[in-house]
Amino acid sequence: MGKDVIVACDFSGKEQVLAFLDKFHGRKPFVKIGMELYYAEGPAIVREIKARGHQIFLDLKLHDIPNTVKKAMAVLSNLDVDITNLHAAGTTAMMKAALEGLTRPDGTRPLLIAVTQLTSTDQAAMEQDLLIHEPIDQVVMHYAETARNAGLDGVVCSPLEAGKVHARCGKGFLTVTPGVRFADGDVGDQKRVMTPAQAKRIGSDYIVVGRPITAAADPVAAYERCVAEFCD
Ligand code: C5P
Repeated sequence: MGKDVIVACDFSGKEQVLAFLDKFHGRKPFVKIGMELYYAEGPAIVREIKARGHQIFLDLKLHDIPNTVKKAMAVLSNLDVDITNLHAAGTTAMMKAALEGLTRPDGTRPLLIAVTQLTSTDQAAMEQDLLIHEPIDQVVMHYAETARNAGLDGVVCSPLEAGKVHARCGKGFLTVTPGVRFADGDVGDQKRVMTPAQAKRIGSDYIVVGRPITAAADPVAAYERCVAEFCD
């Protein structure tokens, strides 16, 4: 797996997502399936998109007691996804249990990455609601290091944090970065954004791009533009 563009397929149902993917004809973009689509359509949608030849990042952000997460991860591993994730806040014990659950009898497993602090959580919310009083960037780096020490493959983070994560956790520790916008595009509800070219320069391993592709007049052209800026 190398640098790639992952298309966030935030659609509410099978019909919409398959109609979207049909536009790509021979191309098989790496697809992110999130909670909305998964909860609407269940594991069948993962199998169907996989059978069409796409790699899949299943973004369900698990967070529960270690035994429950381990068993859930074993189910997701059987779906043959390529990347899945959990919350680092579930602690080292949960992350290690997740890796055990994901590992198939032949020793292979999907990549496992951690969410550190959600980008919707700011310093004030962290202090007031979570009683965490360290600066948020230190908290993010600490969670990334905890994930690496538990044996995970990387983190989901802002492209603005990707360089720091690599400096702290090593170049081989994956940074998967949403919050990507074209220089001439709409920012929408994302606050801290980068272009695909900037994300490449800072060292993101994968960019996750949703609306700049899914809501474009020509989604395939928008996807190709991301690939040209980020991968080439
Ligand atoms: O449409 P847009 O490009 O903003 O989509 C970004 C995708 O990445 C969405 O699926 C969103 O849920 C996800 N994401 C994010 N920020 C995070 C984690 C995930 O935008 N910190």
